[in-house]
Amino acid sequence: MSKPVAIITGAASGIGESVATHLHNHHNYRVIIADLNPLAGERVAKALDPTAGGTALFHRTDVSDYTSQAQLFKRAYEWGGGRIDFFHANAGIDDRQDMYAREGEELDGEGLLKKLDTRLFGVNLEAVVQGLWLFKYYVRRSREAGGGRGYFVATSSAAGLYHMQQCPQYTASKYGVIGLCRATGPIFVKEGITVNAICPAFIPTNLCPPEVAKRWPKEHITPLSTVHKAIDAFLADDTLSGKVVELSQENIYFREQHDWVNESQRWMGEESNKIWDEGYKEPPKREGY
Ligand SMILES: NC(=O)c1ccc[n+]([C@@H]2O[C@H](COP(=O)([O-])OP(=O)(O)OC[C@H]3O[C@@H](n4cnc5c(N)ncnc54)[C@H](O)[C@@H]3O)[C@@H](O)[C@H]2O)c1
Repeated sequence: MSKPVAIITGAASGIGESVATHLHNHHNYRVIIADLNPLAGERVAKALDPTAGGTALFHRTDVSDYTSQAQLFKRAYEWGGGRIDFFHANAGIDDRQDMYAREGEELDGEGLLKKLDTRLFGVNLEAVVQGLWLFKYYVRRSREAGGGRGYFVATSSAAGLYHMQQCPQYTASKYGVIGLCRATGPIFVKEGITVNAICPAFIPTNLCPPEVAKRWPKEHITPLSTVHKAIDAFLADDTLSGKVVELSQENIYFREQHDWVNESQRWMGEESNKIWDEGYKEPPKREGY
């Protein structure tokens, strides 16, 4: 049987590089290093597999471009001999424009306020949704090559559980990732695909402004080994799906959604699915939107 195949986005650096290395060296995966940055990406792939292309491969990808991400999956599937088993939707960026600043409050030729730069959502949220869409398609087609079970992990953040006032768009995108995993995890697990999110606290990587990394107290740093603990937990238990795992210091914490505020909300959350399923059997025709 062929080796399992993992795609990790944002794997040229930081958390992605570390997860790719862990899956390759400790879980016997063939890994695709997917990243915008070719120099760093090639370096990571070569460090894992000096023969280049046997067990680790770099594929330049812009996850915010659907075609680019779809090409990544097609290449991984072919390279993997007809299987993809693990996908880590990990690439992420911080806010590209300060929402609070007066700079940038410029009018266009028609006197309309120019749009806020929201490119972040293409990387941090839209790409994660499209990645799940692509992943489940390829897992369903991996059975003949020995695959057919899938592990989907998305990198959210502690900012997706609490918030980060300096980066409100980042916060919104990371909340979105948690919602996606909680909603789809219990459904996809029925066909052998687990869907989970990790929420790291502060890990000094290239994402963090150098000044922040310099000033951050050592006791509040979360090591990359804690990310590996979460990955190991997902791989060890195929029933874990729709889970949100907070990573802080050396520990991983499974975080449940908020308590139901009353019996009516519990009923809505736990017992109304039949009604919704009926309602969406034939989606309502909506005029104009
Ligand atoms: N470092 C932390 O403290 C921390 C905490 C919580 C969550 N996170 C999340 O972890 C993930 C990884 O971040 P990191 O800390 O390792 O940062 P990093 O900057 O070290 O790595 C991010 C990688 O993503 C790549 N990337 C950016 N845009 C891309 C795109 N459009 N397509 C493909 N690749 C792209 C970058 O080239 C880079 O190699 C992000 O989603 C981030 O939001 C980080």
